[in-house]
Amino acid sequence: MPHDLAIRGGTLATATETYQADIGIRDGRIVTIAEAVTDAEDVIDATGRIVMPGGIEAHCHIAQESGMGVMTSDDFQSGSISAAFGGNSCFVPFAAQKTGQSLAETLETYDARATPKSVLDWSYHLILTDPTADVLNELPEVFAKGITSFKVFMTYATRVSDAQFLDILSVAGKHGALTMVHAENHDMLEWMARRMIEGGNTAPRYHAPSRPGLAEEEAINRAIALARLAQAPLFIVHVSTPVGATLVANARAEGGQVWAETCPQYLFLTRDDLDRPGMEGAKYICSPPLRDTPTQAALWQHVQAGTLSLVSSDHAPYRFDDTGKFSNGRDVDFRRISNGMPGIEMRLPLLFSEGVNRGRISLNQFVALSSTNAAQIYGMLPRKGTLSIGADADIAIWDPQETRIAGEMHDAMDYNPFAGFEVTGWPITVLGRGRRIVDQGELIAQPGSGAFVKRAPIDLTGHPGQPVPELDPTQNFKADLS
Ligand code: URP
Ligand code: ZN
Ligand code: ZN
Repeated sequence: MPHDLAIRGGTLATATETYQADIGIRDGRIVTIAEAVTDAEDVIDATGRIVMPGGIEAHCHIAQESGMGVMTSDDFQSGSISAAFGGNSCFVPFAAQKTGQSLAETLETYDARATPKSVLDWSYHLILTDPTADVLNELPEVFAKGITSFKVFMTYATRVSDAQFLDILSVAGKHGALTMVHAENHDMLEWMARRMIEGGNTAPRYHAPSRPGLAEEEAINRAIALARLAQAPLFIVHVSTPVGATLVANARAEGGQVWAETCPQYLFLTRDDLDRPGMEGAKYICSPPLRDTPTQAALWQHVQAGTLSLVSSDHAPYRFDDTGKFSNGRDVDFRRISNGMPGIEMRLPLLFSEGVNRGRISLNQFVALSSTNAAQIYGMLPRKGTLSIGADADIAIWDPQETRIAGEMHDAMDYNPFAGFEVTGWPITVLGRGRRIVDQGELIAQPGSGAFVKRAPIDLTGHPGQPVPELDPTQNFKADLS
């Protein structure tokens, strides 16, 4: 039977190998990887190109209200289109529970936002902000739907207490789900912010000292301890401090079921960007805040060493106007400016250009960081995140030579924090289940052509965990913990 589509003449790159081969696709799946695939109805000539698994964007805020109640500028249409132009074929935005809302209602809301609009296959991480007993009882149903990751905040109005965090970890762990956490110590942040404001330090640049690295380090340490006590896996989002990353590395070296990511803003921007003239610094307000140049270098080392399994965008798009950054007005202190910046389209080109081209990471590390590790951690491998027989034909074809000066993106934003960066290496064609989503600068896919991805539980093989002596039945007077 002929193939529907062949990708010919390219250099294939996976998380482990780089080699010359053709790919044959049938019914949306990779069915042949061979020296030559000659029997196809449609052909993409990938000579001189790199053919990789499509990116998986695992941290992005799409059609989501912030803690302040501000809707992101990107919905599932513009967000997924922008992600596709940035080399992604799948993404996992958040579905955020509102106080008092059931999880069924939360998912219904997000299904209505995603299904008619997404050009990418998608799943959700469910944000739990109100983990009542009823809500915890609903969790197993959510797992059964294939939503196998949850996020909690240790700061913001939507934060959970340590006790609530333990309950969530415990239920999630029992069902093979992964708990994700935004780790910053809320009281430390409030205390520092109050000191800033009382001294009249209200400009955007004071966002950085109001959220010291120490607050992240303390919270990461505590989150790891809580996960250990609950004997549950944990994922730390947007790590911005070397000490935080070292805590993750140490925990994993001791068998801990702890993973983490960083984001391009912590690798490529610094807190000096917050000190741009006027209110321009507001464009660079995100949490945790931008740090400094030595921090960037140390985070790169953790990316290289594998401490940080993903580089995710944390795309949180709020326009530089009163619908976004200034929804509380322009003349406000840094605490009342919307947190977050866009980056869903820049994530992979930046990582390729500054990572692969500058020799900081190999091409195979790039594939792991951009796609394969996300598929593995979030229960999508081997269907997504790899080029193998039977996998969805989610493929990004890159021109490694193309140089562009970053400017306007395909999102619904009015600024790009990485504008002006010279970036070499761009995705030219992105396929989702064998269909062209974008091709040679053109959007091909129709809104609504993406599909929900049912994910598997996290695979903890090889990660035994760090048993807590108090919970060891041989040491604790045979307590029944069932
Ligand atoms: O500043 C950020 N990162 N805003 C989005 C929400 C979050 O904390 O991830
Ligand atoms: Zn966060
Ligand atoms: Zn985020």
